[in-house]
Amino acid sequence: MSVIDKVINAVTPAETAEQRADVRAKARAIASPGDWFSLILDHHVILEQAFAATKAAADGPSRVVALKKLGVVLMGHAIAEEAVVYPAMGSAGEKGHATTGYDEQVEVKMQMAKLEKLNPASQEFLDKLEEIRQAVAHHMYEEEGDWYPELKKNAPATDQVQITKRYEEEFKRNAVELLESGERTAVQLGRELGVSDCSLGKWKRQFGRQGQASGSGGLGAEQSRIAQLERELAAVSRQRDILKKALAILGQEPNNFTR
Ligand SMILES: [Fe+2]
Repeated sequence: MSVIDKVINAVTPAETAEQRADVRAKARAIASPGDWFSLILDHHVILEQAFAATKAAADGPSRVVALKKLGVVLMGHAIAEEAVVYPAMGSAGEKGHATTGYDEQVEVKMQMAKLEKLNPASQEFLDKLEEIRQAVAHHMYEEEGDWYPELKKNAPATDQVQITKRYEEEFKRNAVELLESGERTAVQLGRELGVSDCSLGKWKRQFGRQGQASGSGGLGAEQSRIAQLERELAAVSRQRDILKKALAILGQEPNNFTR
């Protein structure tokens, strides 16, 4: 049985909309403005909206567009949590929660990959989308109702500041990588992530490749290729670091990874 099946079975009957709203209201009361918890709660809302927009899209082509947006938000959020928040939970005595978190997010990514291969106009697509939506909704319920309030209570204040700084940085870095991949304009990506294109420009100056001309500009073919490879290497290195942290939490030695 897959993790996602276990999640779905474990939540039958699932928590009600009222219970979710109640947990979120309590989480909002615990979070401080601008801290890691409030940023995550904001991203959870954006995720819910992206699921709803994909479900509500009128036809196959519009579903593909909505699904891309959902994928962007889901991946950016998941990577930031996996790189920063789950390791912090592991350090703060919540190793079990961190392990469940990694497992569930890996499963969601695998199911998203399956969804992308389905005919967007089919009922099968809508069923799979709903399956993932339910699993993600339950995952967020666990985070908001139990895992993150505990982290908020148990991690020292200095660690909380660091988690906020690193979570924000990971989310922005991921957005800049997407921007620099050239698949989307700043306006498109900003709309997908719920931020202004001005903010994206600022993040790019902070975390993007220094000296790169904005937009289509100025580099020769060879330099562009090198820049592309550097971006890919940086992304792979970050994924490797996340995996190393996950393995450390899961108690497995990351022997096969070298710097
Ligand atoms: Fe989350």
